[in-house]
This record gives sequence, structure tokens and C-alpha cells, in this order.
Amino acid sequence: MNEQQRKQSTVIKDKDYSHYFGAPSLKEAKSRGKASVEYHHDFIIPDEFRGMGEGKKFYLRTYGCQMNTHDSEVMTGIFMALGYVETDDMTDADVALLNTCAIRENAENKVFGEIGHLKALKRTRPDMLIGICGCMSQEESVVNKIMQKHPQVDMIFGTHNIHRLANILNDAYMSKEMVVEVWSKEGDVIENLPKVRNGKIKAWVNIMYGCDKFCTYCIVPYTRGKERSRRPEDIIQEVRLLAAEGYKEVTLLGQNVNAYGKDFEDINFGLGDLMDEIRTIDISRIRFTTSHPRDFDDQLVEVLAKGGNLMDHIHLPVQSGSSEILKKMSRKYNREQYLELVEKIKKAIPNVALTTDIIVGFPNESDEQFEETLSLYREVSYDLAYTFIYSPREGTPAAAMEDNIPMTVKKVRLQRLNNLVNEIALEKNKAFEGQVVEVLVEGTSQKNHAVLAGYTSKQKLVNFNGPTESIGKIVKVKITKAKTWSLDGEIVE
Ligand code: 5AD
Ligand code: SF4
Repeated sequence: MNEQQRKQSTVIKDKDYSHYFGAPSLKEAKSRGKASVEYHHDFIIPDEFRGMGEGKKFYLRTYGCQMNTHDSEVMTGIFMALGYVETDDMTDADVALLNTCAIRENAENKVFGEIGHLKALKRTRPDMLIGICGCMSQEESVVNKIMQKHPQVDMIFGTHNIHRLANILNDAYMSKEMVVEVWSKEGDVIENLPKVRNGKIKAWVNIMYGCDKFCTYCIVPYTRGKERSRRPEDIIQEVRLLAAEGYKEVTLLGQNVNAYGKDFEDINFGLGDLMDEIRTIDISRIRFTTSHPRDFDDQLVEVLAKGGNLMDHIHLPVQSGSSEILKKMSRKYNREQYLELVEKIKKAIPNVALTTDIIVGFPNESDEQFEETLSLYREVSYDLAYTFIYSPREGTPAAAMEDNIPMTVKKVRLQRLNNLVNEIALEKNKAFEGQVVEVLVEGTSQKNHAVLAGYTSKQKLVNFNGPTESIGKIVKVKITKAKTWSLDGEIVE
């Protein structure tokens, strides 16, 4: 029996996992303590770990939202500080890490499929380390399943443990057993983490962590912990630095950015205040995501109306057009309040682009309630929407609700909604034909390398012919043809 097999058999035989260090608990993750958040500015990679990755390669695959994408940039920073180099070939990696998403069942199924593939790879390369992190690691059921069925995994760590990557790797090299380090209680805010960003044009900047909204369908408050805002001075300094490094666009990130600052005990400083400060920084484009309509206040609308480098696109998830369903979702606004907010935004920011998220087939959603979603969609006339069939998440209140709506009905509803989304998206895009728009050029199109691609202020994807020197710049493009998902054009300047 080689070392790896020994390690695997130890884990398989041992059915009582309660003694494992730091196994997750959804129940514990749900509680919101009064303890104040502490800010640490003294993050360092311990000297004893430096050089750990010398001559080794890491592979990091990211699933899910921008928060995960940005977490991966931090982990890449730690890997590189340890001396590892990145590879995009998993079969060549000394450490393979999957940064997972728990938002819907199909997201989880994809990850389990990949974990399955890794079993064969591990057999041929027993010395490689396989790690699972991200939102799925925060779920008890997932961790138990991995421990019982996937002994090829060497380490599992949670969203609150990312800054401990070096220690976790070290433990995994030393230990014969699967290393599990998942803190269910969110930690403090750690500043000065190393980050290796993907690209030099656009950057993500966290402004807060966690979510306290507890929408009844959503796993995020459990996997990401309570709301903790970064101090304004730390955010502003990071954005200034990015501007100085030549970045053109910054997106401020949080699971519910409109709750920014609500947890500060010493200052009264919200998202509106933050945006008002950040807009004075010399950077071309500023965005934020994701908003919750409930906390979207008038001050923020006023600040956004100042325009300039604040982009005229707002992602404003509605989830449903039915007040009864919104109540069951515990969204804390109704259809009328949402529409009022939209009116306010449209009045303050003329021609603002609005996008949204919608869930169809929430438990017992009636045909009439679904029709209300369609009618709201038409009324707002969104530029685009991300649409989902409701997926029960273990441990959330909605997962315990009775649901008499068959999947076939939900699928038809999704199709009908998508048809409407596409119809209005094309209509909206057609309005740009013949217009000249400003495009931040990101590179060549993924589908055709002879064509350049970038986004407008309203977050419309534009494919156009132009010189490669314009990559990284904001150029003027005349729109020649509108499609459902993108615009085609010609550079004019
Ligand atoms: N089922 C389906 N969609 C969900 N979302 C969040 N939780 C679920 C779930 N359980 C969607 C919401 C959210 C987006 C990020 O994912 O629309 O805004
Ligand atoms: Fe992002 Fe939520 Fe998925 Fe976690 S569960 S990766 S926070 S979308």
C-alpha cells in the first residue's frame, strides 16, 4: 500500500468525522453574533513556508460569481508568493484546486463531476494535492460526501479560510489524512492579501463580505457569513493604486453592496458616500455589483446621477414580479416598491441600462404569479436578465416548503421568460444601430481573433474591427448591427 492509498483508507474507514478540525455547520453559520469585526493589516506569508512551491505548478479552476473569481486572484497571489507557477493544464499540476459555487444544484453537480475526473488523475500522479474550496466547502453535506466518497481529495477549506492557504497546503503535505479547515463563523477582515489579478484593464475590488439578508432560497448568507464592510480608506487606497497601475475599470464587489457600511459602529458611511469618494479618483470606469433593491437608497441614486466615471448600468435583481412570491422569498420589498425604485433610477439617470436576476418555479408559484413576473419584465424593459429555475438548497427555509409545481411546468416558464428576455434585449440593442458608443477594448473576440471586443458604459458587448493598439483603451465605435447578446461595429476614432 503506498502512502496515498493509506491516506485514503484512513478516511474511508473512519465514519465519525466530528473530530475533524473545523468541519462546517450550517446551523452555526446562520447565527449572527454581536462581536465587532477586527481589521488586520499585518498579513504576511510565514517565513517557514516561503519556497514551499519552488519548482511546483498549481492549477486553479473557478466556478460561480465574481466574488469567487476575485478570491481566486487572492489565492493565486498566495500561491505565487510561495513560489508556485500557474498552469492551465490540470494533468501537469502539483496542486489542483477547485474554487466551487453552491448557488444551485447544477453548479454543485459540475464540481462533483470534476472531482470524479480527478480520481483517475490522482491514481497516475499520487503525489499531487487536490483541494476543494469556495462555497461548497461551507456545506456540511458536501464535506461529508467528499470525505466518504472522494478520498482522492487532500484538502477542503472554506471561504473564511482563504488567507490560510499556505498553512493548509503545509498541513496537506505533512498529513496522511484529508485536511479539513472550514470555519463556519466568519473571521475578521484581512487586508493586504497578495493578489494576482487576471489582466491589466479591469479589476475587482471587494468592498464588503457576507450577507445578512437571508432570502429564503439562498445559501449565500450561510456560505459567506455575516456582513462585514472594509474600511473606506482601505478601499480608496486600493482603487487609487489600481488607477496608478493603469487599470481602466474597477467593479466594487459584495454580495449585497447596498448594505455597505451598515456594520460600522464609529462612522456613518454608506455606499453612496463611498461612490461619491471613489468617483473623484482618476479612473475611467466604476461599477458595482450586486445590489439589493431593499437597501438602494436615495443618496446612492443621487450620487450615481452625477455620471462621469460612474457607469450608467445597474444590476438590480428582482427575483419575481409577484408580491406574494417576494414575501415568501423574504425579499423585504414588493412589486410596487421595486417599480418605484426603478422609476426613481430611470428619472435620475436617463437611458440607464438595467439588468436583473429572476428565479422561476419558486415553491408553489402559480401561473398567475409567473405572469406577474413577465408583466414586470415588460414594464421595466430590462436590457438583459440572468434567469434560473429555483433549486432547493439544503438548510434554507424554502427547501422545507411544499412544492407542487412539476419541473416540466418550470421549464416551460423558463423558456417563456427567456424568449421575452431575448426579444427585449434585441429591441434595446437595435436602438444603438447607427450610434457611436465608447468601448473599453479588452482584447480580441473569443470567437474570432481577427475582431476586437469590449464593453460600453451600459455593459453591452461590442465586436468591431480595429487596430490591436486600441486594446486597453476607450475608443469610439459606430454600431452597424445589433444582435441579441452583442453589437457589431466599426472603430471611428
Ligand atoms: N435557486 C435558483 N436560483 C438562485 N439564485 C440564488 N439562489 C438560488 C436558488 N436556490 C439566483 C438568484 C441570485 C443569483 C445570483 O442566483 O437569482 O440573484
Ligand atoms: Fe458566489 Fe454565491 Fe456561488 Fe458562492 S454560492 S460562488 S457567493 S454565487
